[in-house]
Amino acid sequence: MEMNELFGLAKEAALKSYSPYSKFRVGAALLCDDGSVVCAANVENRSYGLSICAERSAIVSAIAQGKRKFAALAVACPDAEYPVSPCGACRQFISEFVEKGFPVRFGASDESFVDTNMEELFPYDALHELADR
Ligand code: THU
Repeated sequence: MEMNELFGLAKEAALKSYSPYSKFRVGAALLCDDGSVVCAANVENRSYGLSICAERSAIVSAIAQGKRKFAALAVACPDAEYPVSPCGACRQFISEFVEKGFPVRFGASDESFVDTNMEELFPYDALHELADR
């Protein structure tokens, strides 16, 4: 699947966001290595700190569906005027399941996005060494 198509699914997923507090909708579309796509959105809570980002929501949902290998991730933030990158917690969380070259697109629109990868988003990811022991 093309990144443009995956990003389109992320934009659709953003419409399902539950974000009454920030009013900042985010959607994520996670391409699994079996060709399926798991979509998710950010889900906020009146106890603000419990809010879950779209990216982590997508990973958790995919794992719960038995998927373990992922090919690409697109994140859409249609309420922003510029591409908003995944937060630090999400970078750590995603890195648990993907390799350095894992492609990530984050963007506000079809005209305003960034194509990057996990290595750029989360360099010096030493915790993988712990998992390998
Ligand atoms: N958010 C995401 O879901 N993903 C990001 O990459 C950036 C931030 C959410 C968290 C919160 O619900 C809202 O956007 C504002 O920070």
